[in-house]
Amino acid sequence: MRKIRTAVVGLNMGLAHANAYALSEKSDLRYVVDLDEHRARSLAAELVCEPETDWRRVLPEVDAISFATPHHLHAPMALEAIRAGKHVLMEKPLALSEAECAELIREAEAHGVVLMVAYIVRYRPEVQLLKQIVDSGQYGRPFNANCWVESYLRPAPESWFAKRATLGGGVLFSHGCHYIDLLTWLLGKPIQVAGLGTRLGTEWMEGEGTHHSILKFESGALAHQITSWGLKVNCKPALLHVHTPDACLVLNGGKLEVVTGEGRQLLYEPPGDRNPKAGALNQIEHFLDCIATGSKPLTDGMVGLESQRVIWSIYDQERAAATVH
Ligand SMILES: NC(=O)c1ccc[n+]([C@@H]2O[C@H](COP(=O)([O-])OP(=O)(O)OC[C@H]3O[C@@H](n4cnc5c(N)ncnc54)[C@H](O)[C@@H]3O)[C@@H](O)[C@H]2O)c1
Repeated sequence: MRKIRTAVVGLNMGLAHANAYALSEKSDLRYVVDLDEHRARSLAAELVCEPETDWRRVLPEVDAISFATPHHLHAPMALEAIRAGKHVLMEKPLALSEAECAELIREAEAHGVVLMVAYIVRYRPEVQLLKQIVDSGQYGRPFNANCWVESYLRPAPESWFAKRATLGGGVLFSHGCHYIDLLTWLLGKPIQVAGLGTRLGTEWMEGEGTHHSILKFESGALAHQITSWGLKVNCKPALLHVHTPDACLVLNGGKLEVVTGEGRQLLYEPPGDRNPKAGALNQIEHFLDCIATGSKPLTDGMVGLESQRVIWSIYDQERAAATVH
């Protein structure tokens, strides 16, 4: 099979994409791109590819491109790449508005290219196993889930992630979107939502830096999610409890456990010899397989839009929420 020629634009989170493309047998990593020339040059030297500062220049030379750039650049960059016939892997969230997401989905279809959102959490082995167990019904149907996303972001008041216009909202939109996506993947379609956010503790952000949301699903199940960038303990990745009539499935720090009346059992833990550069490999290989086979990504543009619709409904509900007298 011919290797897929790839490039990565934006080399902070994009570093994980570039490392994975460099590791994958299915990819020929051609370019790493960043406005910061030094960053591009040093990574290119390490991964044996070309550095570039102007992302448009690499378009004619590649088949597929990952964007890990500030959120307000997602739609214009992806649109241009799609219209040039390139497959696009977009860091989450897909874009800033319903209209932008819809246009990207339409254009990708019209140009016959793959559009995938980098909801990397879904591609972790422990999360895939959790999904299999939930779907198998072996412990019964989930009725409650609690998710804590506790992290700390160094205050950066001048950055794009401090501003609503460039971030697209607050921490729920930017980081919580992974876990809204995960909860809907595990529990189905939400039918009612509520939420409250605060800037207290993260006053450098225009949007909320701490958020609580509650979701009710078609099945009747409830979920509660806490997301924050202001906590001085950094407990990524998230802690998630999924409760069923017979068990509690616990996701924590890459491990999956089940707690039943008989005790606690480890179902998955990351191998000790795990390659630290392979964190995004499953996700990248899925993207490359979809390109090679023409199949739909697990986290395609529509999945990205649906999770954002849930977040926008939470924000709408929050604006309309009653105050206490
Ligand atoms: N999956 C995750 O857990 C995770 C974690 C962090 C960030 N992200 C996502 O990754 C994306 C980027 O976030 P980040 O934290 O890496 O941001 P960042 O601001 O730290 O890094 C963005 C990089 O893009 C470069 N850049 C900006 N505009 C560019 C342009 N026009 N051409 C080339 N390079 C350009 C910048 O120089 C910078 O190096 C966002 O979508 C964010 O939500 C995902």
